Amino acid sequence: MPAIPSPRHDPTRRHPFSVAPMLGCTDRHFRVLMRQISGEALLYTEMVVAQALHYGHRRRLLDYDPIEHPLALQVGGDDPLLLAEAARMGEAWGYDEINLNLGCPSERVQAGRFGACLMAEPDHVGRCIEAMVTSTSLPVTVKHRLGIDHQESYDHLLTFVDITAAAGAQRFIVHARKAWLKGLNPKENRTIPPLRYDWVARLKQDRPNLSIVLNGGLTTMADGRQALAMCDGAMVGRAAYDHPLRWAEVDGAFYGRSSRHPPRPSAVVEAMIPYAEAHMARGGRLWDVARHVLQLVQGVPGARAWRRRLGEGAMVRGAALHVLRQAAGELKRHGR
Ligand SMILES: Cc1cc2nc3c(=O)[nH]c(=O)nc-3n(C[C@H](O)[C@H](O)[C@H](O)COP(=O)(O)O)c2cc1C
Repeated sequence: MPAIPSPRHDPTRRHPFSVAPMLGCTDRHFRVLMRQISGEALLYTEMVVAQALHYGHRRRLLDYDPIEHPLALQVGGDDPLLLAEAARMGEAWGYDEINLNLGCPSERVQAGRFGACLMAEPDHVGRCIEAMVTSTSLPVTVKHRLGIDHQESYDHLLTFVDITAAAGAQRFIVHARKAWLKGLNPKENRTIPPLRYDWVARLKQDRPNLSIVLNGGLTTMADGRQALAMCDGAMVGRAAYDHPLRWAEVDGAFYGRSSRHPPRPSAVVEAMIPYAEAHMARGGRLWDVARHVLQLVQGVPGARAWRRRLGEGAMVRGAALHVLRQAAGELKRHGR
């Protein structure tokens, strides 16, 4: 396998590993948990709709913990003015990157005329990107599919990438399958259309100066390395949420940081205790944090019982912090 060039020496590889935006999963609590596991991975927010930012509760939509950096704000929308405003807000809030969602096929998102359906309108996407780029000094990046519906030729993809690159997009995160806008729901659209990594490899070959990141179906560290052998980065979604500790060696493997020892589950749970305490002091529930902690222990004797105790304890209304302390203590007693 080719050696992985250091991110320091190759500007297209500044973020060789990232955790995908996932609505309902990658909220600030999960991101803080993931940061205990990798100090380097680029983390993405859930998609925030630009219109909601314009009219809605900005603090609730944008707040995060400083430990989450490097952190990208993913926005959804199709109105250049609203997207420009969202990019400005993201910069004012201290985010490190603004990402435009061009890959979501849900009906709700299609009804708003954004997400994956915008791949049919590359010139309009170009106008959106231009508006965002001129309103922020942060990198503006895009996350998209190979194509949609019957528009799925490689040439179409290349044209789409060229137009958005000319408009100023700085990284292309390619979910390496097409999306069917009619007929498949979002979940099916993440499994049924076949993965075509060869298109992503070809894109990198054809546009070597662009930063291209592969997303879709990467489930192991070996998969991540393979992605890096063909392009500039690996973005992992479901396998990061479902198995966060599987990625405990990312900092060493992808960023050349050798000093960090992969954390134990007990250490991660312990690190989440002061964070959960602060969240509860602001009026939040233990469950908001604990529901993500559950994924830390899997495939070892007693894992299911541990998850059940933590889940049942943390779900109770008014659950107190000692539930998390007990969960950490139990892991430590078993040397985990
Ligand atoms: C529950 C869930 C929510 C998602 N929400 C978003 C989202 O808000 N924005 C986005 O661009 N993609 C979203 N995705 C797609 C993922 O970012 C990713 O592209 C997809 O899951 C494929 O990567 P994977 O095979 O590593 O999971 C979501 C995926 C899942 C499973």
